[in-house]
This record gives sequence, structure tokens and C-alpha cells, in this order.
Amino acid sequence: MPVVVDPDPTAVAELLTAMPDSAHGVDSTERLAAWLAEHTEEYLVLLGPHLDLDDALAVCEGLRTGRPTVSVVLARDAIDAGVLGRAMKAGARDVVPDHDLDAVAAAANRAHQLYVALRGPSGATQHGKVVTVFSPKGGVGKTTMAVNLALALADRGARRVCLVDLDLAFGDVAITLQLFPSHTIEHAIGSEDALDAALVGTLLTRHQDALMVLAAPSQPDVRERVTPALVSRVLALLRESFDYVVIDTAPAFDEPTLAALDETDECVVIATLDVPTLKNVRVALETLEMLGIARGHRHLLLNRADDAVGIGPDKVEAILGLSVATQVATSIDIAASTNAGTPIVVGKPDHPSSTAIRGLATRLTGDPAEPAAEQLAPAGRRFRIRR
Ligand SMILES: Nc1ncnc2c1ncn2[C@@H]1O[C@H](COP(=O)(O)OP(=O)(O)OP(=O)(O)O)[C@@H](O)[C@H]1O
Ligand SMILES: [Mg+2]
Repeated sequence: MPVVVDPDPTAVAELLTAMPDSAHGVDSTERLAAWLAEHTEEYLVLLGPHLDLDDALAVCEGLRTGRPTVSVVLARDAIDAGVLGRAMKAGARDVVPDHDLDAVAAAANRAHQLYVALRGPSGATQHGKVVTVFSPKGGVGKTTMAVNLALALADRGARRVCLVDLDLAFGDVAITLQLFPSHTIEHAIGSEDALDAALVGTLLTRHQDALMVLAAPSQPDVRERVTPALVSRVLALLRESFDYVVIDTAPAFDEPTLAALDETDECVVIATLDVPTLKNVRVALETLEMLGIARGHRHLLLNRADDAVGIGPDKVEAILGLSVATQVATSIDIAASTNAGTPIVVGKPDHPSSTAIRGLATRLTGDPAEPAAEQLAPAGRRFRIRR
């Protein structure tokens, strides 16, 4: 999956149009380092025109010896003999004018040919994980947690993440992220058999924090026309292009949710500390067990875990027969962040709720506890890559 690096989101969006559909954008060389640490199969880094030239050349130098299978292409607005000479010396594979998207596409193509020659064609496929956020109860925080978990997994561009709103009638992921999608899953209705990764790519909306979103239809009645086969096909294709596909669901075992659960690798089950919710979550867990879904990969998230209602986490674990993976307390900051359109993991990364949600993300990725950014923070202009 090629990666484009530029601090200007408009430049990233433009350069991505000249790259393969699976290409990803990040806003800094620091996020590039985090991305490369997660993606040992990366073959192309396109460094955009708004990066400082010395920083871009430092990246070339670092990759020349650290990751020789990665082709580095520089897109610059002014190319002279001096820039070319320095770029070649630093190990850049190509230098192209940033406004010449044909030249960018040709450079990307050459990089891919080299990659295939070095690794063989089978090296190009990948298989991301599907993470479903589920609860049989409404209003317990599924959307809030799905959005924040997706952003935590994306880690500002270190991983490619798609958030899918499968609450097809009343989904509010788009509004939570203040997105105005031009396409939704509705535009794929009837194309189950013709769907491919490129077509699914056109259904997605890009969020500024390096997250792609497949929004729910704008009209509730469209839900009736979204078949389980379509949901399964879309998820299978997304899995090929993304590291993580995070799914927000409706509070019921409806058909789209069941199709998603069938594809699920990790299931985050949300409960709150009230008896009706716990009763329903218990029934839901029994149903998941009966269907053999995510056995050994179910993670209990206790939301509003501070309410003084006479039930503590110990009692919850005893009732549900599942240990609590993460607790998030009731906090006005969560609701305020949602209302402001900046989910708490982005708006207040040091907030205890953000720490808890990032902890869950770490549990899902199986990474060591320390975030990649801290391990990889570049010293001066040095560019280090965790191998
Ligand atoms: N820990 C929390 N502290 C404070 N407010 C919270 C917390 N978790 C969620 N909320 C708020 O509760 C409301 C409901 O949350 P959310 O929409 O995420 O629930 P949901 O389970 O997706 O609901 P639905 O079933 O209707 O889709 C939102 O306004 C959200 O900001
Ligand atoms: Mg919701």
C-alpha cells in the first residue's frame, strides 16, 4: 500500500488520485515512520512538495539503507539540477513535478514493477482485521466507542483504518465526525457481483485524521435494500485494503449485523452498569457463543463504569462470564467532544477515557503498550524505522 506524505491535506488528496486505490496519506515524516513500522511490506513512499527538502532527503537516506525495498519518490514544485543530484545521492528512485499527476502515476507504476520483480506478485495482497463494536442495547455508547477506537487504531496515519456505519437506518457516524458523504453503501445496492476494491473505494469518505468512513444511507428505508450478501462482499473487499475495518452496529441482531459478525475477528461488546443492559448483554454473549462468533476474541467494554448503582466490575464479570477489557467512566468531556465534532481521543488525547480507548486498541493490535510515535520520535533530522 503506497503512502503519500505531505502536511497539506489538499496536496495529499491530489497526489492520491495518481496512486493505486489502496494508497494512504499521512501528514508528517514522524507519522510515516509509525506507518512503516506497522507495514513491513511497504514498497512506495511519495514525499509531497510541502515537506522541507532536507527532511525529505533525510527520509530517503534513512530508507536507502534501512528499507532498501521501498522506492522513494519526491514530488517537488521546482526541480533543478541541484535538487536532482541531491535526491539521487540520497537514494530517491524518482523526482517528479508535483503538478504532473501523469508523471506521479508513472513513477508509482515503476515502483510497483520493481516491487513485484523483487517479491513476486503474491506479496501484494493483505488481510486486515474486522473489529465489530456491538451491544444489544441502544444508547450505551457504541458509536462513540467505535469512532474513538477507529481513530485510536489509525494512530494519526500509522495504520489504514476504515470505519463502517452498519446502523443502516439511524447511523450517526458521519455526523459525529462532521462528514458530508457524497456516497454511501446505498450506491452499491444491486452490484454485489460486480463490486471490486476500486468501486468500494468510491463509496468512502475521507476524514482528516487519516480515517476512511463508509457512511450509512441518509434515508432509513434504504436499509431494506442492503442485503447481507452486499454487506459481506463490502467487508471482504475492505479487509483487503485496510489494516482494520471497525464496524459500528445497530442495537439488534439484524441481518447486516449478523453478516458483519460472521466476518468479525475481534468483537467489542459494550455494557453499562444497569440490570436490563446486563441481562441483554448476557443473552447477546450467549448468542455469539452459540453462533461461534469471535470465540476467544470478545472484549468487554464497560461504559459509564462509574455510576453508583450498586453494581461493580466484579459483579459484571460474574454475571457475564467475561472479564472487563476496558472501562470508560461517564464524562462530560466525551459528550462535549462528540458535540464539537472532535472525538475525545483526538481532542483530548491525555484524557483518562482516551487512554482507556487507546489501551483497547493496543489490546486489539497486540502491539507493546508504548505508542509507536514515542518509540520513533525522530531526533533532529534522523529518521528511524523500527524493524
Ligand atoms: N462515557 C460517556 N460519558 C458521557 N457521555 C457518553 C459516554 N459514552 C457515550 N456518551 C454519550 O451518550 C450518547 C449516546 O452515545 P452513542 O450514540 O455512542 O450510543 P449508541 O450506543 O451508539 O446509541 P444507538 O444505539 O442509538 O446507536 C451520546 O450523546 C454520547 O456522547
Ligand atoms: Mg449508535
